[in-house]
Amino acid sequence: MEKVVISLGGSVVSSNAINMGFIKAFVTALEAMSSLTKCGIVVGGGSLARGYIEPLRSEGVNNYYLDRIGIKATRLNAELIVNLLNDVENVIPESIDEALMVWKNRKFVVMGGTIPGHTTDTVAMLLAEAYGIGEFINGTSVDGVYTEDPRTSKQSEKYERLTYTEALNLSLESYKNAGSNVFMDPISLLIARRANIKIHVIKGDLIENYENVLIKKKKTGTLIS
Ligand code: UTP
Repeated sequence: MEKVVISLGGSVVSSNAINMGFIKAFVTALEAMSSLTKCGIVVGGGSLARGYIEPLRSEGVNNYYLDRIGIKATRLNAELIVNLLNDVENVIPESIDEALMVWKNRKFVVMGGTIPGHTTDTVAMLLAEAYGIGEFINGTSVDGVYTEDPRTSKQSEKYERLTYTEALNLSLESYKNAGSNVFMDPISLLIARRANIKIHVIKGDLIENYENVLIKKKKTGTLIS
């Protein structure tokens, strides 16, 4: 019996266009995993969120309202997943409590953001904590946590393992504001630390990575524990 919460980066479901090929393969793979009994999926806002946040930031709109817009984008992206799954209530819960209710008799629950002040990583971590799930996958656009952004720095090196405190310090260095581009938001790491939830940071658009973590129990990406 396997239980997991997946924080799926918005950039994984949609970059320039909606990544329908990946979404269909992702849904099929998770549904086919019979050992997986509970799976929470929290979807990020990606370029959809940033496309709305950045122009309004330039006009001086503050982070509270930018976060509120980001949340709407995450919920729209969540619709891409929930409409293709079978064993799920076809609603996007707006709080953790609501998510727990619609998850009760289903294998899956799919949601986006909840309130301003954090990202979907924190929503996903709170969902894991509330349900008592010790395994967490962060499916992102890179294959782990690096010393520097590997897309812009050639000297960047991947961490195989990090403690919660090391990951938290790295996250705090790059976390700034709404739409911040950081591997995981700091609040999510604080929740993981207090609840002792094991985090696998993996490249989220490779289906085999989910199988490696959940079925083959193979070390994939960066492990934070
Ligand atoms: P994401 O969770 O996608 O954040 O939410 P991110 O780190 O920018 O994105 P990815 O991982 O690249 O997809 C998008 C934005 O929505 C707001 C924040 O402003 C966040 O940056 N948000 C999201 C909230 O304020 N509360 C939430 O619960 C979720």
